[in-house]
Amino acid sequence: MSAELLAAADDAAQNAYAPYSSFFVGAAARARDGRVFTGVNVENAAYPLGICAEKCCIAAAATAGLEPGDLEEIAITASPCGGCRQWLAEWRLERVSYRRADGEVVTVTPPDLLPDSFVL
Ligand code: THU
Repeated sequence: MSAELLAAADDAAQNAYAPYSSFFVGAAARARDGRVFTGVNVENAAYPLGICAEKCCIAAAATAGLEPGDLEEIAITASPCGGCRQWLAEWRLERVSYRRADGEVVTVTPPDLLPDSFVL
């Protein structure tokens, strides 16, 4: 687990827009070329429209031209939700580190998080 990447996720979390849940999440992903992308959760008054930090982070990488397979690892300040696990699977992250609710930091793979994930 890259402590540096989790520190970047913790830094990013300070910019989360979470006025409804007050649950601030940050994510930081390192690309194979060394670039680091970050993301935060961005909530909305129409609750289901909010987006998670992991999606925001991966969307930032996609915006910069990256494709599935280009991101090597991601660190997240909280356990990824079910939908984000599908995103992590699609983007073929090699390692996913996250801080569990009890504070323990674990490193796993997307198939650990979502076995037999949907593929189109
Ligand atoms: N959240 C994330 O950003 N990532 C996750 O994987 C879990 C949940 C956010 C969504 C919402 O803004 C807040 O945490 C509370 O659910």
